[in-house]
Amino acid sequence: MPEDAPKILVRHQDAEAFVGALLEATGVSRRNAGIVARALVQADLRGVESHGINRIPSYLARIQNGVLDPKAEPQLTSVTPVVAQVNGNNGFGFPAAHCAMEAAISMAQTFGIGMVTVKHSNHFGMSAWIVRQAIDAGMMSLVFTNSSPALPVWGGKSRLMGVSPIACGAPGGENSIPFILDMAPSVAARGKIHKALRRGEKIPLDWALDKHGRPIDDPEEALKGLMLPIGGPKGSALAIMMDVFSGVLSGSAFAGGVAGPYDMSKPGDVGHFIVAIKPDLFMSLDEFRQRMDVLYQRVVGSDKMEGVDRIYFPGEIEQLTEEKRLEEGIPFVQAEVDALNAEAERLGVAKIRQIVS
Ligand SMILES: NC(=O)c1ccc[n+]([C@@H]2O[C@H](COP(=O)([O-])OP(=O)(O)OC[C@H]3O[C@@H](n4cnc5c(N)ncnc54)[C@H](O)[C@@H]3O)[C@@H](O)[C@H]2O)c1
Repeated sequence: MPEDAPKILVRHQDAEAFVGALLEATGVSRRNAGIVARALVQADLRGVESHGINRIPSYLARIQNGVLDPKAEPQLTSVTPVVAQVNGNNGFGFPAAHCAMEAAISMAQTFGIGMVTVKHSNHFGMSAWIVRQAIDAGMMSLVFTNSSPALPVWGGKSRLMGVSPIACGAPGGENSIPFILDMAPSVAARGKIHKALRRGEKIPLDWALDKHGRPIDDPEEALKGLMLPIGGPKGSALAIMMDVFSGVLSGSAFAGGVAGPYDMSKPGDVGHFIVAIKPDLFMSLDEFRQRMDVLYQRVVGSDKMEGVDRIYFPGEIEQLTEEKRLEEGIPFVQAEVDALNAEAERLGVAKIRQIVS
């Protein structure tokens, strides 16, 4: 199916209610179902469709296969006044990460900084929703996770590290938007290859190698092969960094031991590393915000290269997409809607509501 295949529009509230109902039907508590649904729909709103509600069929398959516990509740343990740990208890990664960021924010409000590791968790989708949780509380943040093997270490020929995203953020000022960096250490997130497969599209040749080590544009063959790191050894080192902080430090799986969201064989045992930082530790909040305004204006007002119409701040393209989709609805292709409705039918839940034009 080409990029311009007809799209079906869904309002974000309807997408959220639909996903919440599917999850509750599998035994997830109303609160946790709401956290998962909001995070997935936020990804679709921001144009990160690779980590949106289309992940639901694979998450539900993991529940059906007994490798993810829908009823698990994250358990928080305080370690020092500014450090805590969450045990995800093999439940969804979303409530575990939400609980960790909530604790980190609370510690940062009192002590300026809060650091929480999460162990025995699962995939938490798009990292930016956790960065947003911090921004909504007026906090800067670091959000790291590890993930299943997909990428070779530099010089290696087999998958060892995850395509583990590095995310961080800072609130903006009166005349700027928040800074939100959320990037995989690979040329593209693996979820973008799954999205191309769902949509019957080809992928650019610089994203992945097939199992023989050749550049490949077929998403199915790419998923059997290797993801390519950004910047050669530097991208592979960033993936190792995510494993050090999220896996080794937390007590979760590491060094290739994490199971991915499409793997039905074992619990994910994913680890996360989450830090919240109060932005007015070294100056007044007003001054911090004014300095963010200066940074933003200098970045987006920078001299443009030939052929460039506009310069964006990290997170800005996603914010603009969100503003549009909040108004117009989220576009899906028929195959995606069909896969979601098949789950609804199986679980006795109403089908997803579409915008009828
Ligand atoms: N949970 C997991 O295990 C997992 C694994 C991999 C990726 N992911 C998610 O996949 C998503 C996509 O990752 P990605 O690396 O493909 O992202 P991406 O390449 O689309 O964007 C990376 C960053 O670059 C910024 N950016 C992109 N284009 C820009 C431009 N023209 N000007 C200025 N800034 C720009 C974006 O705002 C973003 O912060 C992320 O949300 C990530 O969290 C999750």
